[in-house]
Amino acid sequence: MDPILEAKSLGKVFPRSGGQVEVLRDCHFSLSQGESVAITGPSGSGKSTLLNILGGLDEPTAGQVLLKGTPLDFGDHAALTRWRSRGVGFIFQFHFLLPDFTALENLLMPVRGHRRISDQDKQRAMEFLEITGLADRADHLPGELSGGEQQRVAVARAFMNRPGIVLADEPFGNLDREIGARLGDMLFGMGRQERTSLVIVTHDPELAARTDRHLQLTNMALATAEGIGKGAS
Ligand SMILES: Nc1ncnc2c1ncn2[C@@H]1O[C@H](COP(=O)(O)OP(=O)(O)O)[C@@H](O)[C@H]1O
Ligand SMILES: [Mg+2]
Repeated sequence: MDPILEAKSLGKVFPRSGGQVEVLRDCHFSLSQGESVAITGPSGSGKSTLLNILGGLDEPTAGQVLLKGTPLDFGDHAALTRWRSRGVGFIFQFHFLLPDFTALENLLMPVRGHRRISDQDKQRAMEFLEITGLADRADHLPGELSGGEQQRVAVARAFMNRPGIVLADEPFGNLDREIGARLGDMLFGMGRQERTSLVIVTHDPELAARTDRHLQLTNMALATAEGIGKGAS
């Protein structure tokens, strides 16, 4: 099957006063429909930079990102916005819920970005709150939820627009182990239900071990990590 997302020969150089910093060089990546991939690597190795480029939040200085074989045009503002808001869903380490909006309203925010909210959208959001065990918290503000509950809303929000891919950047790094493990269950459960591919940047070997494939970012490019992940023997 053709990959739904590919990166070819990605390079990224950040300008810096008095020089520049090279973060990615000739970095290749490929993701199949429904596949889950873990990316690990030392702090500062460029994991967030890579994820941001794949999600259209940042622009590579070399190479291409291909969406079902078609290059993403980083100069095309409309295409980029479409990709960011509907092609992919993001989960960050910090939930980034809007503090003045309820859990339900926060879930509906990605939809609101591109069209009027329908009854179906509200139903879907309520169903997501059920799945996340927060049905009785629909009208709570983020400040009235625990850290784990806030991140549950953020996980569900990433799936709201039916993206083909969810990109998670150390999604549970900020939570205690047990809560992180339960959120992992939720993330993989929603990924299966929605048939969404997952790319998860993580320091957590247990989370990485639950993915189909494990890659390591070293020397500015991705390499297969041995001995970790479901596929490992
Ligand atoms: N906007 C930026 N400007 C300059 N340097 C940056 C910028 N973003 C990231 N970097 C640098 O790129 C490197 C990789 O950062 P990052 O992708 O955040 O790593 P990781 O997520 O693996 O910890 C770091 O050295 C960081 O300082
Ligand atoms: Mg990072």
